[in-house]
Amino acid sequence: MSELPMRDLETQHDQILEWVGNYQRQLMQAPPQQPFELMRTLFEPEDLQAAVAVLLSGQVSMGQRVAEFEQAWSHWNQSAGSLMVNSGSSANLLALSAFASQQTQPALKPGDEVIVPAVCWSTSVFPVVQMGAIPVFVDCDPVTLNLSLEQVEAAITPQTRALVAVHVLGNPCPMPELMALARKHDLWVLEDCCEAHGATIEGVKVGNFGDLSSFSFFLSHHMTTIEGGMVCMRKPQDWQDLLISQRAHGWIRGRSDQQDWIERFPELTGGWLFVETGYNLRPTEMHAAIGLSQLGRLDAFILRRQNILAILQAHILNRWGDWLAVQQALPGHASSAFGLAILVKPGAPFERKDLQRALQSAQIFTRPLITGNFLRQPVVHKFAFRQGQSAMPGADYVHDRGFMVGIHHDLTDSALAYFQDTLDQFLGKF
Ligand SMILES: Cc1ncc(COP(=O)(O)O)c(C=O)c1O
Repeated sequence: MSELPMRDLETQHDQILEWVGNYQRQLMQAPPQQPFELMRTLFEPEDLQAAVAVLLSGQVSMGQRVAEFEQAWSHWNQSAGSLMVNSGSSANLLALSAFASQQTQPALKPGDEVIVPAVCWSTSVFPVVQMGAIPVFVDCDPVTLNLSLEQVEAAITPQTRALVAVHVLGNPCPMPELMALARKHDLWVLEDCCEAHGATIEGVKVGNFGDLSSFSFFLSHHMTTIEGGMVCMRKPQDWQDLLISQRAHGWIRGRSDQQDWIERFPELTGGWLFVETGYNLRPTEMHAAIGLSQLGRLDAFILRRQNILAILQAHILNRWGDWLAVQQALPGHASSAFGLAILVKPGAPFERKDLQRALQSAQIFTRPLITGNFLRQPVVHKFAFRQGQSAMPGADYVHDRGFMVGIHHDLTDSALAYFQDTLDQFLGKF
């Protein structure tokens, strides 16, 4: 086969990107068939072009773009340091592994207790179990849907070593108060911000309160890298090298003290020095390139989500507040509107499932609020746990009476009106 001149290859490269951009531009002109999907894939032409450019470049495994995205994310989130991983679940796993590392003082040990909310995602809890620790579930506040300071305080014992605070559907937990409590009892805190990009407490973005925090960039989150996640650190000097090793095989590559290790072990080959127990949780350059492309639009995405949530919540409360409740933020807190939570109040003249069915038959899809009360999931019988309180009325309320409608930044005003009409039609019958 004859070799193509370099100039031809460059032209073809540019043409491929142009085609990809044009293709996506045309695709975006068609309105979505079902505006209220639970999961939407929302790529702009430049996101796809960035991804394809990486694939064409040949430099696809973790490298410069991941480092750039980490820096850009730290800048956007006002965080002292960030480390990208391949999912929000991996971010939680990495954070708990760091708490459990021998170098962490006091380290999380097998048999120690970690407080987790009963309303949480599965992989907010599993890393606790995977460290050999005991999750201690606490109830949620039925208004914020988050764990409350009082419930956490009541669950602390001498065995408690850490707390996982999940900002449910983007609504911030009372972090300053929780951090004061955690410092008093010497607890490590992971802020699970996987649903809360850009949520704030008195203007400070979540992810800046806990010792470590996690974000997810899965599809339908505030921004996406397809799969992807981030760990943010309040004190990178304490965590960064450890997390770098644990993210990639436990080896020294990329650590600030890499050279010191090489000098300490001259008999071992530099690049093949393993100093921590680790995993492979690395993201790829392609995921980081999509992230960099999306990040520039994240503020606008969040603003639109918040706007949509405010419109829908106001309609629900004004017209149907006797029968329906919505999630509310604490004073000074701003939710970043991951989804619309609807709770059917006791005494409403219809059942939750009837309302869900009516919405669903109008192509407005619903799902449980995260996992409902996680204590009612079959998997909890596969590990040891404790309940902070014997009864979980808040989490049961969420489980039995709540559901979520997906929010996406591209929902149009007419889609919102359609939602309101559908709701009014069903509820107007009673
Ligand atoms: C609260 C919470 N934590 C963790 C995760 C896990 O993120 P990922 O799907 O990126 O693994 C999710 C997923 O949506 C989540 O909602």
